[in-house]
Amino acid sequence: MANKAFGFHIVDYYYHQHYKDGKWLEPIFTSNPNIDIEMSATSLHYGQQAFEGMKAFKRKDGGINLFRPLENAKRFRMSCRRMMMPEVSDEQFMYAVTETVKRNTKHIPDYDPSMSLYVRPFMIGTGHNLGLRPAPSYFFGVVVAPVGIYFNGDSAGKFLIVDDDRAAPNGTGLYKVGGNYGGAIKIQFDAKSQGYEDALFLDPATHQYLDEFGGANLFGIKHNTFYTPKSSSILKSITNDTLKILAKDVLGLDILETQIPLTDIETFDEMAACGTAASVAPIGSLTYQEKVYHISESMGPVTKKLKQLLLDIQYGNIKDDYGFQFNVTL
Ligand SMILES: Cc1ncc(COP(=O)(O)O)c(C=O)c1O
Repeated sequence: MANKAFGFHIVDYYYHQHYKDGKWLEPIFTSNPNIDIEMSATSLHYGQQAFEGMKAFKRKDGGINLFRPLENAKRFRMSCRRMMMPEVSDEQFMYAVTETVKRNTKHIPDYDPSMSLYVRPFMIGTGHNLGLRPAPSYFFGVVVAPVGIYFNGDSAGKFLIVDDDRAAPNGTGLYKVGGNYGGAIKIQFDAKSQGYEDALFLDPATHQYLDEFGGANLFGIKHNTFYTPKSSSILKSITNDTLKILAKDVLGLDILETQIPLTDIETFDEMAACGTAASVAPIGSLTYQEKVYHISESMGPVTKKLKQLLLDIQYGNIKDDYGFQFNVTL
């Protein structure tokens, strides 16, 4: 069984599907975690790949929920298009994800709002091609892993604002593609080695505004308003989109997607990281160039309500008026 930390361990079944000569071949489910690809594959040399991250949640009644999976399917298509890779239809994506989850049911942690099964669909360029051009063939796979919490859970963590960038101003930050992440590994590792939960990136064009974390968006609360950065270099988080809807409809907050200047940090009553892996993780302080900006000692009341609402929908504890819950029938 998974421990409470975000991590990965061996599961039973993987989804494998190849794309050759302009069409998708029959998929297979296999316990083989390995794939054979050519050493000159574009994914290995030029990062021609894309991926998604979602979770399957075990409900109290033992059923399984996915959360807004069609949004992941849509974003995956967007990323694949940007990387000149073949698109995966909603039906193909849903089949791959739901059937992989079903075949790994025994690895989905029992109902526990800090535990779930992480689901990672991905696509890579395969085939011989050392030139900088789209690959002749592709592989679409799904890997799953039982996970616990990422970041600091409910305690307000310390995060480090960095001057390194993860994405270029008009680059691929909007897409979920490996190139945005590989370069961030060192930045995140260095921030963690200094005792921070993670690194927060600034907008790459001016370094004056807050952008996002390496694996999560950011939001702030003040004056009865939910603020979240407007930027052309950040991933459009499905969690963030959900929180905006819940903040407006259930909590009656105003929603403001706007540039958030570094200099405004201390005007916020609450701030948090949000994403599939992060869930909602409160931010206690942000440090930039040795200056510590204090936000709150513990999770603020609005963040707490939003987190609870999100978890209650994800784990099927409350009625879902939005169609966010997707019941995986076994
Ligand atoms: C860079 C980045 N931003 C934000 C998010 C959060 O997005 P979502 O809520 O769709 O998981 C993720 C993780 O998936 C991410 O990798």
